[in-house]
Amino acid sequence: MRISGKYSTVIVINFGGQYAHLISRRLRELGVYTEILHYYEASPEKVGELGADAVVLSGGPRSVHEPGAPRIGDWVLRLDVPVLGICYGHQLLATMIGGRVEKGPGEYGRTWIRVLRRDDPLFQGWGLEEETWMSHGDYVASLPDSAEVLAVSKDTGYIAAFRLRDKPIYGVQFHPEVSHTPKGRLLLDNFVSLVAGLEKNWRPENIVEKLVEEIRARIGHDEKVLVAVSGGVDSTTTALLVKKAIGDRLVAVFVNHGLLRKGEAKEVLGLLRSLGIEPIYVDASRLFLERLRGVRDCEEKRRIIGRTFVEIFEEIARRDPAIKWLAQGTTYPDVIESGAVPGADRIKSHHNVGGLPEKLGLRVLEPLRYFYKDEVRRIAMALGVPRSYAYRHPFPGPGLAVRVIGEVTEEKLRVVREASWIVEEELKKAGLYYDVWQAFAVVGDDEWVGVKGDQRAIGRIVIVRIVLSDDGMTADWARIPYEVLDKIAWRITSEVPGVTMVTYAVTTKPPSTIEPC
Ligand code: XMP
Repeated sequence: MRISGKYSTVIVINFGGQYAHLISRRLRELGVYTEILHYYEASPEKVGELGADAVVLSGGPRSVHEPGAPRIGDWVLRLDVPVLGICYGHQLLATMIGGRVEKGPGEYGRTWIRVLRRDDPLFQGWGLEEETWMSHGDYVASLPDSAEVLAVSKDTGYIAAFRLRDKPIYGVQFHPEVSHTPKGRLLLDNFVSLVAGLEKNWRPENIVEKLVEEIRARIGHDEKVLVAVSGGVDSTTTALLVKKAIGDRLVAVFVNHGLLRKGEAKEVLGLLRSLGIEPIYVDASRLFLERLRGVRDCEEKRRIIGRTFVEIFEEIARRDPAIKWLAQGTTYPDVIESGAVPGADRIKSHHNVGGLPEKLGLRVLEPLRYFYKDEVRRIAMALGVPRSYAYRHPFPGPGLAVRVIGEVTEEKLRVVREASWIVEEELKKAGLYYDVWQAFAVVGDDEWVGVKGDQRAIGRIVIVRIVLSDDGMTADWARIPYEVLDKIAWRITSEVPGVTMVTYAVTTKPPSTIEPC
């Protein structure tokens, strides 16, 4: 399904790194639909086919002077829609119009700029001097007469923004998409509303009926669709869309791998039933835990868990030959990531029931492939999922197996389950749960000597990890008030037997990942 056409559409051309998604998400939040194209797949035909009303060139980690640096043709200057280049995109546009880009000491982090043309629509509402966030080594040193400088860096005098005099083609050196550029959102809004004159008509929840019709049209009258539901918002929303489209020909399967959070199996089953979905419930916890016995390596744990899921689904599909489809809750970042530049690092193998469709000869249905998480949440609520559930923290497919460092044992699972429950409960009590991306406990094999009563007692160390993030790609540790941390630590050591020390993880991602392994 293609979504563009009816909605105002901005194409974001991706020059590598993680900027493109953030730009795209910010634009969607403003109410326009976006699609990301890798620079090497962008062409005037493709941009036209997608019904682009404006184009944004993203930042990227390379230098325009490097051999093999990502480029696009100068067709982009001849488009009849506005163009905004950001950071690398700004430098690329500058070279394309005959400007000079040079190496410099760079500007990193908070950078003040002086706006020279506050009357330009792009800078409506900006002050004379404003704070921005920059991250670049090269800079635009000069521009031809066809361009006008709109802003400069206060300290270095570097060109911070320009436009072509006779066309709405703009470049900005700073990153308007990050929250550290306080007026960045306003600038993007100006680009969309004032420069491009677009109507902000994109609402993900308005296309639920269209998604349902698409599914109905694709699935044969006697075919069934298997959906692996985990209780997460993506798989629950996928199942609800399929259910709305084909009713009882949805085969929802909920596998309990014994690595769920406290009370989770019951909660998920209750939610699904309240939404009219009666899943096949498979309690395979014993099987999973047996297979994980003695396994310390995290990627090995993921492989074992993935393989065991596959076996269970194979068995279900074998018993019902009408199952011809597998619906997955794949979201837009997964789709773009899987088409990423070859050689991109795979940091962890986040399994999404990988390999299953090919093995079973099933066709794949991914109704959420054009949506971001926050959009999926809105669709979920439009389908009747309670807000408290739609906004639950993400939980990894391999569950607590990745929150236990070293071998997964019943005892460590008990510790991590109870301790995580306390972390979540205290955050909810403090009204902070929905302010953070994830909050959980981790346990490994390290020990700490404790004093219980008058006795020395050796116990485990529990690490509490609470992070802020937009999408899980980067994260900061949450500055939780000391009283809340104190309460969490006190409750874990008093209520969870065998724990003598609680620590708080204060490392960002990168360099750490969010989960411990
Ligand atoms: P990391 O630990 O890589 O996590 O910083 C980034 C986000 O991904 C989640 N995560 C997983 N999700 N299967 C999943 O479905 C996995 O194996 C997995 N590992 C990490 C993590 O919870 C965080 O939100």
